Amino acid sequence: MGILSGMNTNEWISAVFSPTGGCEKVATAITRGMSVRKLDLCAPVAEQAVTAPLLAVVPVYGGRVPEVALERLRALKGNGTPAIAVVVYGNRAYEDALLELHTELTANGYKVIAAAAFIAEHSIVRTIAAGRPHAADCELAAEFGQSVATKLAAGDMSTVCVPGNMPYRDRPQMPVTPLTLESCRGCGRCARLCPTGAIPSAAPHTTDASKCILCMRCVAVCFRRSRLLPPPVLEGMTQRLNLVAAEPKQPELFV
Ligand SMILES: Cc1cc2nc3c(=O)[nH]c(=O)nc-3n(C[C@H](O)[C@H](O)[C@H](O)COP(=O)(O)O)c2cc1C
Repeated sequence: MGILSGMNTNEWISAVFSPTGGCEKVATAITRGMSVRKLDLCAPVAEQAVTAPLLAVVPVYGGRVPEVALERLRALKGNGTPAIAVVVYGNRAYEDALLELHTELTANGYKVIAAAAFIAEHSIVRTIAAGRPHAADCELAAEFGQSVATKLAAGDMSTVCVPGNMPYRDRPQMPVTPLTLESCRGCGRCARLCPTGAIPSAAPHTTDASKCILCMRCVAVCFRRSRLLPPPVLEGMTQRLNLVAAEPKQPELFV
């Protein structure tokens, strides 16, 4: 009996690490019209066996997958289970991230039957790839989802190869943490939503640099816009990215 017999391939599990919403938009577009159970990787997940197709969507940080997203994905155990590996990047490059995600999922018991790299607004320099994923990206994502569903319905468990190099690039060192302006009223929203627990709830105007991965969620979720990157750092990154990430990239699909 094949691994798909007895498996409900019509309902997917969508496990997404999306501090600022770009990965979430891509995951939503891929699963348009499908029945989905969502798992938010921005919060700890309980160890569990996954018995439905797993869609894993993560952002690219310095050409790699953020370690915390991989750790949480490791709690989701596959057993010959089909998986769809998707990385989302800010129009610079995704380098080794898709290979890293593919390799992790395979080591965790999945068969990676499809993969993709999509583009979303750069979560640090929001003028890069602003507005992406745009309507055409989302249309392509929905078509990708449909073609994977068709592959599953046909019982086709063939795996895909993806680009990337081993050993992977070194993980980027985070030069700074976001700073907090005096307008902060200490509401604690950033502390509650920080994926790595880097903002103490008792002192939400501070940041634990040893835990911060610079995911920009605190900046994105603050209603008072009290959190931001130090302006000279943002300025430097903007200049660098304008040189290498201005030309729009296209999504890449592997089915
Ligand atoms: C710390 C950090 C590093 C990043 N590194 C890259 C990168 O190497 N290449 C790239 O194209 N985009 C990079 N980005 C942009 C994100 O991959 C992109 O904005 C992604 O959509 C963020 O996902 P989210 O909106 O779900 O948080 C980086 C963003 C952050 C916060």
